[in-house]
Amino acid sequence: MDSIIVTGNGPLNGQIPIAGAKNACLTLMPATLLSEEPLTLTNAPRLSDIKTMSALLQSLGAEVSALQDGQVLAMSSHDLNNHTAHYDIVRKMRASNLVLGPMLARLGQAIVSLPGGCAIGARPMDLHIEALEALGAEIELKDGYLHAKAPRGLKGATHELRFASVGATENTVMAATLAKGTTVLKNAAREPEIVDLVRCLRAMGAQIDGEGTSTITIQGVDRLHGATHPVVTDRIELGTYMIAPAIAGGEVECLGGKMELVESFAAKLDEAGISVTETDKGLKVARRNGRVKAVNVTTEVFPGFPTDLQAQMMALMCTAEGTSVLEETIFENRFMHAPELTRMGAQIEVHGGTATVTGVERLKGAPVMATDLRASVSLILAGLAAEGETRVSRVYHLDRGYEHVVRKLEGVGAKIERIKDE
Ligand code: EPU
Repeated sequence: MDSIIVTGNGPLNGQIPIAGAKNACLTLMPATLLSEEPLTLTNAPRLSDIKTMSALLQSLGAEVSALQDGQVLAMSSHDLNNHTAHYDIVRKMRASNLVLGPMLARLGQAIVSLPGGCAIGARPMDLHIEALEALGAEIELKDGYLHAKAPRGLKGATHELRFASVGATENTVMAATLAKGTTVLKNAAREPEIVDLVRCLRAMGAQIDGEGTSTITIQGVDRLHGATHPVVTDRIELGTYMIAPAIAGGEVECLGGKMELVESFAAKLDEAGISVTETDKGLKVARRNGRVKAVNVTTEVFPGFPTDLQAQMMALMCTAEGTSVLEETIFENRFMHAPELTRMGAQIEVHGGTATVTGVERLKGAPVMATDLRASVSLILAGLAAEGETRVSRVYHLDRGYEHVVRKLEGVGAKIERIKDE
């Protein structure tokens, strides 16, 4: 296992390229299962989660080749020979459950392990199941696996999600593309990753309207064809690197960043006294004078403040002037970074889903570790602003969602290195 060592050494300046979105790519890849023809994704991020999804698709009989240093994924599901997503893979990554809808639609059957809980919460699949059952699937839970079948094919229906779940929306939209008739999905998630998925499905011949709104209408077609699709920019990687100059000072241009992807987050940075401007290449973020001001944040579904940026925002608030209240409403257990940040001198009190942070003048470097992706990166951000050395261990969490984190931060002047643990 590797560690990353960060030493706070003043303002950051320069440019950081932003990759394609992990969470978009992880739903676009299973879309290959819907067609016999090839699907090629460009602008793919180089991440261990993408390798895990490749392994899962291959285990179902799909061909997946990573080309151009992993930035292009060429996939073909011409000959699927297995319809079981095994626990061994699914337990590593919850997004594995996104093969359920496509397999059911294409093969009329799917056996998918229930993922179980994870570090940030219980994360059940009831909403996925209810929506697919509304399309006529019969789903049973046996020995930890969901056994789903639709022997006579799926049938379009009107269904309202009880909560605008990202994954349930993705699974249902993919399944409905090959269903007979029209599906109207109400209270659908509106995240940019859903919009990207719909654009890709449309390029494959699907008939879908309303993506980006809370009602998505899908007119089923007999078959989907091949396509090439560029993965949308990663708004969470973007937001993460926007925090870097906010916490350490300086001015960083995030290449490929777009305001529409991070509107509510940028508004909070603005309230905290950080300037965010659109350029012709991306978003420029600057903190030139004084301390950041404390702001309150509540996580919400898109277009609200993203839960995937809550940990990074908390790191920023640790050195803000005043007291901020961060409320997590999406996951029940997403404050594991708080005790680690406290080890660095932060003043944080957590009660249920609410964290109260009283800013301190300066954090102090310490050995820390985290048990999920966004928590890990928040510790690196905190390290950029801390006095002395911060050693973040269990870096494999970071590899799931941030490509070349050391290279990207070094490029703007951070003192950061990755070392092998003895
Ligand atoms: N939920 C249910 N039942 C369900 C589905 C979800 O109760 O059937 C609950 C979850 O337990 C959670 C909430 O609804 O409390 C939100 O879950 P959602 O389904 O919207 O999230 P997801 O699809 O499992 C995706 C991202 C997450 C991101 C969330 C919210 C992917 C692969 N993952 O998860 O990303 O936090 O949406 O925006 O797209 C990350 O990248 O670090 C990450 C965790």
